[in-house]
Amino acid sequence: MEWKGKWIGPAQSMGDVCPVFVREFNKGDFPGKEIKSVQLQVTALGVYEAQLNGKRVGDYVLAPGWTSYETRHQYQCYDITELVEDRNRLEITVGKGWYRSPVPGWITEEGKAQRAAIPAGLIAEIKITFTDTTTAVIPTDETWQAAESRIRFSEIYDGEVYDASFEVSDYQPVVLLERTTDNLIPQQGEKITEHEYVKAARCFTAPNGEVVVDFGQEVTGYIQFTVDAKAGEKVEISHGEVLDKDGNFYNANYRSAKSKIYYTCCDGAQTYKPKMTFFGFRYIRLDQFPGTPCADQFYAVAVHSDMKRTGRLRSSNPLLNQLFSNIIWGQKGNFLDVPTDCPQRDERMGWTGDAQAFVKTASYNFDVDRFFTKWLADMAADQRPDGSIGHVVPTLYVGSGSAAWDDAAAICPWQIYMTYGDKEILRQQFDCMKKYIGFITNSTKDPYLWTGGEHYEDWLGLDAPVGSYKGSSRADFIASAFYAYSTSLVVKAGRVLGEDVSEYERLYQGIVDTFRKTFTDYRTQTEHVLAVHFGLAEDPQKTADALAEMIKACGSKLQTGFVGTPYLLHVLSGYGHTELAYTLLLRTEYPSWLYPVTKGATTVWEHWDGIMENGDFWSTDMNSFNHYAYGAVADWVYEAAAGIQTVEDAPGFARVKIAPQPDSRLDWLEASIETRKGTVRSLWKQEEGRIRYEITTPSPAEIVIAGKTMEVEAGDYIFYSEIA
Ligand code: BGC
Repeated sequence: MEWKGKWIGPAQSMGDVCPVFVREFNKGDFPGKEIKSVQLQVTALGVYEAQLNGKRVGDYVLAPGWTSYETRHQYQCYDITELVEDRNRLEITVGKGWYRSPVPGWITEEGKAQRAAIPAGLIAEIKITFTDTTTAVIPTDETWQAAESRIRFSEIYDGEVYDASFEVSDYQPVVLLERTTDNLIPQQGEKITEHEYVKAARCFTAPNGEVVVDFGQEVTGYIQFTVDAKAGEKVEISHGEVLDKDGNFYNANYRSAKSKIYYTCCDGAQTYKPKMTFFGFRYIRLDQFPGTPCADQFYAVAVHSDMKRTGRLRSSNPLLNQLFSNIIWGQKGNFLDVPTDCPQRDERMGWTGDAQAFVKTASYNFDVDRFFTKWLADMAADQRPDGSIGHVVPTLYVGSGSAAWDDAAAICPWQIYMTYGDKEILRQQFDCMKKYIGFITNSTKDPYLWTGGEHYEDWLGLDAPVGSYKGSSRADFIASAFYAYSTSLVVKAGRVLGEDVSEYERLYQGIVDTFRKTFTDYRTQTEHVLAVHFGLAEDPQKTADALAEMIKACGSKLQTGFVGTPYLLHVLSGYGHTELAYTLLLRTEYPSWLYPVTKGATTVWEHWDGIMENGDFWSTDMNSFNHYAYGAVADWVYEAAAGIQTVEDAPGFARVKIAPQPDSRLDWLEASIETRKGTVRSLWKQEEGRIRYEITTPSPAEIVIAGKTMEVEAGDYIFYSEIA
């Protein structure tokens, strides 16, 4: 698109202070014309918020979002007709956002310096359409002005400094910036918006004397507070996820992310919330606050991509229901424009491994078609010339080429296709998928395997050697297994697209044959899981049985990490070990999904024992309390416990398979997914010595009840079976 607007920046750098750019325009500037509609098209180097005549334009928070800016920089269009008056003043404030963040700890000093040198740039066009169909454009150019705003500092990881008593004045000219508009693209992802306003549950004095506010729920976003104060009085607030074992505020696990708000009051009653930053928190500490604070003064505002909720899980077990809630909040808290690993510490990045582990669950819980379409486009844009994928997307630093992380390139598009049934995502990503397979083929030490290279392996597996984050499954085993799996997905995607995939079919067969010859035994839970789930085990039943024995032999404890955990229960229930799968799901002792719930978790933890039995923390170094990856267990609940499954040759629930697998330890369980074809629902409950099944399908379905298969049309059905 041809832009009339030019990139502008303040004539003199304002340092950390966020500039506010201003342009006035009046109806009288267009004599004889009547305005029909007015659009604002805008983006910034950083994040921006626009106001027209003091009223907020749109509801997009942290616009323009986070993309691979060098090639794909989104701009937004707002209809501002309703806000236009006779005399108009457009003000757009620009904060550092992701574009100019030093991303603590993750980029080189040189990279930080480069980012710090990027000016707070803005590009915009006010597009006016008159009733006579003629148009006029007011573009960003030297007629705009800039001044220091009340936001004295803003940064994604460190927080915001706001001075409500600062008078915005001293407008200075702007300069044109030498920047291209070739990389500007219209908004592609879901916009980021505010969602729940969670009222503070309590405000209390901790044992160490600090004043703490508890929102009762970990959220990602920011707080809003109201205070009656005198000009110049100070507010200083720290954010944290948990209390320590003494009941005191704790946030050492944020590492170098400062996550603070500093606010200077004006006179009188005032309400404030930051605009250009976010935090992952359940608690705040009032380091300074005028008067005697009480809970009523505080809200936690949840901010995330505006995805439609589609999936619901409920059961007769309150702990399980809390886990389901934690998984939903985990997704909300980490789907803030990119699928982040966690929303609080100095990471908050689009870690590919976490996203591939969770994508199926994510796609059932919420409609994430648009969200992933945009993120995967960034992945393709950032793909290295050798075909490897950055560990994080948008890619920030040099790391790439880790099995199970890079495999997001194949796994995510395939899942989005399966859940929503639109082959466009495969078309968009097919080259990226193939280039990724090419990377493995060209970089492996041994043909038809993936050997060598640096991998995250079975990250956080409990069978890790002392002092390591990597579980003891063999790196070459995991990498080769994912090589096979991703190649199989390229074959499937290619067939859907009508491409010639014979080369990949041959490659796939070669990998399977070589894998079987090379890896003749399976040594860990994760190795068993991958061998079965990826169709590599010659005797999957025997391998699944051996896995079940292995788990039972260690007291029904899972040992799997990021790589094995998402598939663990699927493998068990897929081969007759459903009861053991439920044992793992319902287990409340460490390690388990429900152990954190017994410790009061309101989101999913990074470590099964982020808070240990004795109340100590697992570590201060890597201990997130909002890390969605292990929440991937929800897809087992949808697909196995409730039995709702997609069908490969009729994706998007055009046909459905529903094969519920009840367990006597639950009185009832219900799952529903609002698919593109309508709502599919499966409920089972124990009723007078039998199990009653209530099933709704929006499409023709294969229903399997207690081993009996029935083909049905769309509709509502009730079945009964004996309790096994
Ligand atoms: C992140 C993970 C990520 C990992 C790579 C961590 O620091 O938080 O979730 O996948 O690094 O192993």
